[in-house]
Amino acid sequence: MVDSIRIKLALWFVCMVMLLYSVDSIASLMVFKISLMRSVDVGLEDLIAEIEPSVKTINGKPSLEEWHEEAKGKHPILATVQIYDVKGKPIEEYGPEGVPQLHNGHLRVRTDDRSLRSMFSKIEQDGKTTGYIQLQVSTKPQDDAIEQFFLVVMVVAPFIAAGVGICAYLFSGQAVKPIERTLLMLRRFVADAGHELNTPVATIEACLETLKDPHKLGDMSDDVFRMMERASDRLRHLSKDLIVLARIEDPESEMMRSNVPVKELAESVIAELGTIARERKIELVVQPIPDVMMYGHHESILEIFNNLIENAIKYSEEGGKVRIAVEQKDANLHITVADNGVGIPADSINNIFDRFYRVDKSRSRDVGGSGLGLSIVKAAVERHSGNVTVESEPGKGTTFRVTLPLARVGT
Ligand SMILES: Nc1ncnc2c1ncn2[C@@H]1O[C@H](COP(=O)(O)OP(=O)(O)OP(=O)(O)O)[C@@H](O)[C@H]1O
Ligand SMILES: [Mg+2]
Repeated sequence: MVDSIRIKLALWFVCMVMLLYSVDSIASLMVFKISLMRSVDVGLEDLIAEIEPSVKTINGKPSLEEWHEEAKGKHPILATVQIYDVKGKPIEEYGPEGVPQLHNGHLRVRTDDRSLRSMFSKIEQDGKTTGYIQLQVSTKPQDDAIEQFFLVVMVVAPFIAAGVGICAYLFSGQAVKPIERTLLMLRRFVADAGHELNTPVATIEACLETLKDPHKLGDMSDDVFRMMERASDRLRHLSKDLIVLARIEDPESEMMRSNVPVKELAESVIAELGTIARERKIELVVQPIPDVMMYGHHESILEIFNNLIENAIKYSEEGGKVRIAVEQKDANLHITVADNGVGIPADSINNIFDRFYRVDKSRSRDVGGSGLGLSIVKAAVERHSGNVTVESEPGKGTTFRVTLPLARVGT
């Protein structure tokens, strides 16, 4: 798929470059032709200016016979010179050696050249028009030059197309790399999500089968219902996390920013999770929270507090202690959640923010984790141009530190 995108990009690029090349070549060709014809015209103007004074009146008609005799010996005449009387009837024609002259009073058309350039001028004597002089010159050398120019343009075109195509294909490889990475991540994400959803569904199916058969069920009905309840809890938890993650990563969430009362929000999360902490005999030590407003996405900030504190409780042993500190320094909000729980091994610490990653899958399953909590924290922090760090020592505890800008920033 990525290869076909690269080929399409390269083809588009080649088409664009060739289009520009064609436009540029046509424009250059036209400019070249105009300047060539202009130089021909200048030559004709000079020649007319040279010939005009030599026109004599013989028998009341203009003639160049004398001039022609004289000019023949001096230099070859490159143009065809034609003299017309006042009525426009051709009288004389002189031209380069071998060019036919007037024939039965009609001008011959030079058929050996594809094009001729001509210039016309009045012959005036004593303020009276006595006839007309016309110069014609073959533009064959100019036509040949234009043809050669065109030929070069055509010969060079396939090489340019091939060169541009190869370069575009190579460079598009770099351009599509992020797309390739995103597609790979997306494929992994879908596969992992499918796997995570499959497990509770399979549990529920197995429980239903047992419920259908009274012989198999025996006196296990309570256990079966408990298993179904846990599986459906897991499904709910997973689908909620997937929705939250999608919402936080949605660029539209930018639009839903507002002034979030940090103290109120943090205290509501702590109060809710305090019940679970008490059940597990874990002490929550909370430093006084400053009454500040943060411009941000309410749900994202709530998820940061919720996931970090929930993890700290979940991954602590009975009798453990979780310290929560929220401080305002400069224009930033600093959140610290530290526990003295199980800790994270050094070789896992770089993966804990990956989706569906759990250090100890069996423990997470017992405590009901799907491995999306810290991905949500990371996405939420990045959405606010903040950062999150973690320090941990297995058996001693873990500390998460989050820094979030309080004011509006361009993300
Ligand atoms: N405070 C902590 N102490 C020890 N390990 C932790 C802590 N926080 C996270 N972890 C480890 O990092 C893993 C990923 O955490 P995350 O919050 O993403 O997933 P989860 O807690 O397993 O599931 P979920 O949050 O989706 O319910 C956890 O499974 C756990 O192994
Ligand atoms: Mg978690």
